[in-house]
Amino acid sequence: MSVPRICVVGSGGREHALCLALARSAEVVVTPGNPGMPGGAGGPGRITATSAPPEELEADLYVIGPEAPLVGGLADRLRALGRRVVGPGADGARLEGSKAFMKEVLVAAGVPTARHGVFTTVEPAREFLRELPGPWVVKTDGLASGKGVTVASTLAEAEADVRAKLSGAFGGAGRRVVVEEGLAGSECSLIVLCDGRTVVPMAPARDYKRLRDRDRGPNTGGMGSYAPLPDLKDAEVEELVERMVAPVVHEIRRRGIDYRGVLYAGLMLTADGPHVLEYNVRLGDPEAQVVLPILREDPVEVLLAVAEGRLARAVPAGRLSPPEGAAVCVVMAAQGYPTSARMGDAIEGIGTDGQLVEPVPGVTVIHASTRREAPDGPVLVGGGRVLGIVAVAPDLAEARRRAYQAVDRVTWPGAQWRSDVAAVPAPEAAPATSQVAL
Ligand code: AMP
Ligand code: GLY
Repeated sequence: MSVPRICVVGSGGREHALCLALARSAEVVVTPGNPGMPGGAGGPGRITATSAPPEELEADLYVIGPEAPLVGGLADRLRALGRRVVGPGADGARLEGSKAFMKEVLVAAGVPTARHGVFTTVEPAREFLRELPGPWVVKTDGLASGKGVTVASTLAEAEADVRAKLSGAFGGAGRRVVVEEGLAGSECSLIVLCDGRTVVPMAPARDYKRLRDRDRGPNTGGMGSYAPLPDLKDAEVEELVERMVAPVVHEIRRRGIDYRGVLYAGLMLTADGPHVLEYNVRLGDPEAQVVLPILREDPVEVLLAVAEGRLARAVPAGRLSPPEGAAVCVVMAAQGYPTSARMGDAIEGIGTDGQLVEPVPGVTVIHASTRREAPDGPVLVGGGRVLGIVAVAPDLAEARRRAYQAVDRVTWPGAQWRSDVAAVPAPEAAPATSQVAL
């Protein structure tokens, strides 16, 4: 293949990060994309955006970013046309599309997860809640854009949430709820590549789900991230893959699912050992923004191997090279996010190329939700999570310093961001590594 042509599907920050990583060695066409994506680090023309559906685009590889098209069977439709795809078919995507199915697979695979029950009516759910010590967690079974999970500190709050979800607050996604015990510890996003048999972990990452510093405020899609995690050594990552991921891949394979794509285990490292909080069938957002820029291998080569089922040959050591330095992403969100979003204000500090007017070394502005009224017009706020300011540096402290230096150069009315991303100690008040039983 000369310069491969890769189609990225999606329009958020994760997909912008994917485009930039792939454009290091490929020509990228993104659908539908966003105004920050075209051009890119590879120079003008290296990344182009189109509104054409992926089935109508010719490419050597298709990388599907978000969960919704995966759950909807886009990977199956592309594979039926003979295309190479990174992303599971609808069968594998059920791991994220139905939390009840995910729990069933985890239990069958013998992977530790929070004690839980699945309910379609209020009374049995209430009875179950009363058996749990609290805090209580209530989740919609189906996809809810990262907003379907409530961690309740009182039984009354948990019961009210069950009632709201089952009475249609989340439409079809909430027809069934998963009720579970709340776990405590530090969280880790363990993202692996899987070609159906072989599993290769990427750098472990941490994201910041709550809106405000010190993990206060409502859950969001994610307000920041960093990778790798200094508190998790390589041997511990390998053990987590062995215990929390490999049995799941084995179990879905046993069910006849040929899973070629990204698998993301959301883990809670508790005093009683690691537990799976959730499985996602795609890269995390904003974890992709920090995991991809520190990847030493050529992402095009690795993802082609995922799609073609030859990961064991492409990564013979079974693990990727140690990451190159560290990366920090600070998400800047619109006023009102996550309940609403004030849109349309011009973003100061960003030029017409979508990057910092006054650059900071190692910093890239990732566009998650921006828009433009004219091709060379100013970049405007387009939605809830607007930008991800990503800094790469030799170490985490320097990456954090650069990221916040860049954040200070960008502004719009009502912009909100967390100031404690990658702060030490971690804001989750993580127990010391020695207290985390693996
Ligand atoms: P999920 O979409 O299932 O990962 O949930 C989103 C977030 O809710 C997680 O990243 C955790 O911060 C929190 N969460 C989910 N399940 C639990 C649990 N059993 N105990 C404590 N926190 C949880
Ligand atoms: N950052 C959380 C997610 O992508 O689900």
